[in-house]
Amino acid sequence: MTEKLIIHGGKALRGEVEISGAKNSVLKLMAACLLTGDSIELRNVPHLSDVVVMTQVLKHLGCDVDQQDDDRVYIQARNITSVEAPYDLVRKMRASFDVLGSLLGRFGEARVALPGGCSIGKRSVDLHVKGLIALGAEVEINHGYVEAKAAKLIGAEILLDTPSVGATENIMLAATMAEGSTIISNAAQEPEIVDLANFLNAMGADISGAGTNELLINGVKPSAMHGTTYTVMPDRIEAATYMMAGVGTRGDVTVNNVLPVHLSSLTHKLQEMGADIEMPTPNTMRIRCNQRLQAQNIVTQPFPGFPTDLQAPFMALLSIADGVSIVKETIYENRFKQVGELKRMGADIAVERDVAVVTGVPHLSGAEVNAHDLRAGAAMVIAGVQAEGTTQVYDLYHLDRGYEHIVEKMQSIGADIQRVPDTSERSTVPEDAV
Ligand code: EPZ
Repeated sequence: MTEKLIIHGGKALRGEVEISGAKNSVLKLMAACLLTGDSIELRNVPHLSDVVVMTQVLKHLGCDVDQQDDDRVYIQARNITSVEAPYDLVRKMRASFDVLGSLLGRFGEARVALPGGCSIGKRSVDLHVKGLIALGAEVEINHGYVEAKAAKLIGAEILLDTPSVGATENIMLAATMAEGSTIISNAAQEPEIVDLANFLNAMGADISGAGTNELLINGVKPSAMHGTTYTVMPDRIEAATYMMAGVGTRGDVTVNNVLPVHLSSLTHKLQEMGADIEMPTPNTMRIRCNQRLQAQNIVTQPFPGFPTDLQAPFMALLSIADGVSIVKETIYENRFKQVGELKRMGADIAVERDVAVVTGVPHLSGAEVNAHDLRAGAAMVIAGVQAEGTTQVYDLYHLDRGYEHIVEKMQSIGADIQRVPDTSERSTVPEDAV
């Protein structure tokens, strides 16, 4: 049975929210567990459907994976029985493509289904493939699969055309046990890259420069890699979502277990719009606002710029801000799917190619809307708590991929939100991977 959200909006949100471990980090850490036969304990692992899919991928390969009821997962890749990640799993979740680098790095071969495009953009994997070839792998694409082989991987200097997060990760994973040193220039600088590098170093790797645009990976012997216990970094996109929900309702919300430096591009914008932000402790942010936010322009950029993953939720705020805002999306070709839904709630938004012009309206009004993808879904929740009247949000499986206990967390800060069965015939099923 599919479900929907019912949100009665218009109440100021107040209170504290615990932020979970980062979806976009934990999936890569799970893939990295393939680099040793020892047991790994991951902590602060969120209960998300994407974690379930990555668990299925690892189990398919022969790993033991044991997710506890709390936030721990134990993973051991001692008895690997397959080096193939099949299409029916990879199509559900693009991040499963990261097992390519790990499998190639440890076993010298991998066969991983091409993730293909997805609903937010083309999202090719050419940079992943070029990087692995530079390390000495033979890579062929046959029948929708990337087939990579290497008797030995050898360190190389690799310049990425664009600072792709996934390509940086896959190359890092493959190079960890390569012979010699690898330098990745124009590397992605996202905090999730730093988390992966820290995790790999805790497993015995020798990686430096993470968080800058140049990564140095000194290959280590397989015998140097070992088990470890590691705590996943906080989810900066989840934290930002609750901060925006709070400020958009003229409320007072504190997010706990965050790293404020990960959120700088957002907090600067929110402060310019009129929000008051404090850090009562190094891992806590409190955001308040008791007036209408001012319009603001954003351009999505790789870290440390404004994240594309916050573009849709931020647009929900802009839709009721005072004045005209310009939003430019530079990372994906098709990431304005929230626009039609926000317009159904009364927003005034015009889109021309990669630019949206948002003319703030005094208030949104509740409507039936779709969560077209994960972050468009977060935008609908923010719009729903801001709006006058009742909003119903459909296609919740997108939200379940990236937001742990979203209903309970929103309720804990005073939102009138419920999850109920969706008995309408309009319910759809997941069809693409994000
Ligand atoms: C990661 O995707 C995140 N996903 C995305 O999170 C996020 O939007 C994105 O990074 C950018 O921050 C995960 O971590 C699981 P990229 P990834 O490779 O690694 C192009 C969310 O909502 N490109 O940095 O796939 C590509 O088409 C999401 O949680 C190539 O051209 O992102 C895109 O336009 C969705 N060739 C751009 O680079 C390549 O070989 C950025 O992609 C690789 C990428």
